[in-house]
Amino acid sequence: MKYEPSRLEILLTKVAFILYGKSVYQAFAISLPLKDSDRVLDFGCGMGTVARYTAKRLTNGHLTCLDISERWINECRKNLRGYDNVTFVQTEFPALENKSFDLVYCHFVLHDISERELNRIIPALAESLKPGGMLVFREPLKETEKISLIKSLMEQNWLFPKDCRITDIPVMGNALECIYIKQ
Ligand SMILES: C[S@@+](CC[C@H](N)C(=O)[O-])C[C@H]1O[C@@H](n2cnc3c(N)ncnc32)[C@H](O)[C@@H]1O
Repeated sequence: MKYEPSRLEILLTKVAFILYGKSVYQAFAISLPLKDSDRVLDFGCGMGTVARYTAKRLTNGHLTCLDISERWINECRKNLRGYDNVTFVQTEFPALENKSFDLVYCHFVLHDISERELNRIIPALAESLKPGGMLVFREPLKETEKISLIKSLMEQNWLFPKDCRITDIPVMGNALECIYIKQ
């Protein structure tokens, strides 16, 4: 469901980015299993907290930043000003260029999406990957029911787990990070 952030929410996210940019967002971007020539989708990019660091790694590749919110996409565009390897997309529907992405990642996004929407979004994300492509997510560990649903939707859509681990994220607490591969 579409939701636009308040000015206060945008301000607080900018402060969090200044304080925790490296330990939270850069650390996740560095851990992504990507090559510098990959085509990557940041699904639910927000203000581009992770995208800022991912774009730097894609020296010969391309990053698509997608968000449902017009305000967040505008903030993301400002945050990544100067990067010519990034496209910004505001849409509810993730299947933009079917089977074109090497990697799709979701950073603290999927747990916020309703069960009904996840049933539509996860198949579309799976469809947007090339065979052998990877989907990576990091979500709060305490969202146990959502995580179970996410995992079962992944496998129903031919995405199989390569690695899953629990990490302790500054301020945010324990999170589950998983890498899935498209068969
Ligand atoms: C908690 S924020 C995380 C933003 C960013 N990934 C980060 O970690 O800083 C969740 C983001 O997902 C976006 N979002 C929620 N539902 C969405 C959907 N159906 N399609 C695309 N983006 C969505 C929201 O607008 C918001 O920007």
